[in-house]
Amino acid sequence: MHVLIDELRETHNLPDEAIRQLLETGDGSAVQYLHDSAREISQGAFGRTVKLRALIEWSNVCRNDCLYCGIRRSNTGVTRYTLAKDEILACCEHAWNLGLKTFVLQGGENPAAAKALAPTVAEMRASWPEAAITLSLGELPYDTYALLRRSGANRYLLRHESASPRLYARLHPAEMRLENRLACLRTLRELGYETGAGMMVGAPFQTVEDLVEDLRFLHDFQPDMVGVGPFVPHPDTPLGTSPAGSVSLTLRIYSILRLMLPHANIPSTTALSSLRADARTAGILAGANVLMPNFTPLRVRASYDLYSGKNASGVEAEENLQRIQQELNKIQYSYV
Ligand code: 5AD
Repeated sequence: MHVLIDELRETHNLPDEAIRQLLETGDGSAVQYLHDSAREISQGAFGRTVKLRALIEWSNVCRNDCLYCGIRRSNTGVTRYTLAKDEILACCEHAWNLGLKTFVLQGGENPAAAKALAPTVAEMRASWPEAAITLSLGELPYDTYALLRRSGANRYLLRHESASPRLYARLHPAEMRLENRLACLRTLRELGYETGAGMMVGAPFQTVEDLVEDLRFLHDFQPDMVGVGPFVPHPDTPLGTSPAGSVSLTLRIYSILRLMLPHANIPSTTALSSLRADARTAGILAGANVLMPNFTPLRVRASYDLYSGKNASGVEAEENLQRIQQELNKIQYSYV
């Protein structure tokens, strides 16, 4: 197994069968070697520092009906909200004053509202010319992606969710097509966005072969960012009684991704932290290099409920940053 890990580290690639073995091995020393190798590469690229991104959950209005997601349109129990321009700008101001230089506007898929966000993005760009502006608003028409890009957004996160057509179809209603999603990812890149993809680990019906397919896709697509977190059931969804994904498998995937994509920005995700108290730093030690503290106003935070426990620790950004700092101190890391 060590030979395979060295090969992955050297060539940033492995045959599918070898990736499957890395995902499945019960050899603890191999897993340790995988994490150690990934951490070395991560520290070589980024030092012992973690990049912070200010997450602003802009709207939970969504036209989609993903079977796993708490804000799916069929969930009538959700109080829907969309932040106004001034609220978004206040979140950015707050984040900037605390030293965060990347704003991530995330929301449900809502093409009309996403288009209407362009003036807000333009104002963000004018107010903070040095900031990175990341959008995560789902599948939008080409013209809207182009408009938002011209308005000043420079990064876009669109998880591919699953590169396996079979699994994609089991997790989404028929009107959602994997081909469309992949076409959106290519468009975003063409438009000059730094582009992020990603998937859940341990989604219902997911097999190890599906994860190999995801990793193969990510290898071939070479995203700038990769968002990966465990599936966490939400009780008000059709998949609400399925078990959560595994923390240790998620960590293993962070390490494989780090060796595959040495310079990619890989967040240690909130979904991971929701499953295990020390998971945030475990993610960093496995090769992730980004944390995304939540700057969404507390007023609406509980409504952005993608999975259960997501906003269990609804604390103000300052407090969250303090906690992050303390956790990073313990592993002799700092944030930038
Ligand atoms: N568990 C974990 N992640 C989820 N997402 C949506 N629902 C869940 C869930 N139940 C993830 C999806 C989506 C992102 C916004 O959140 O991957 O792309």
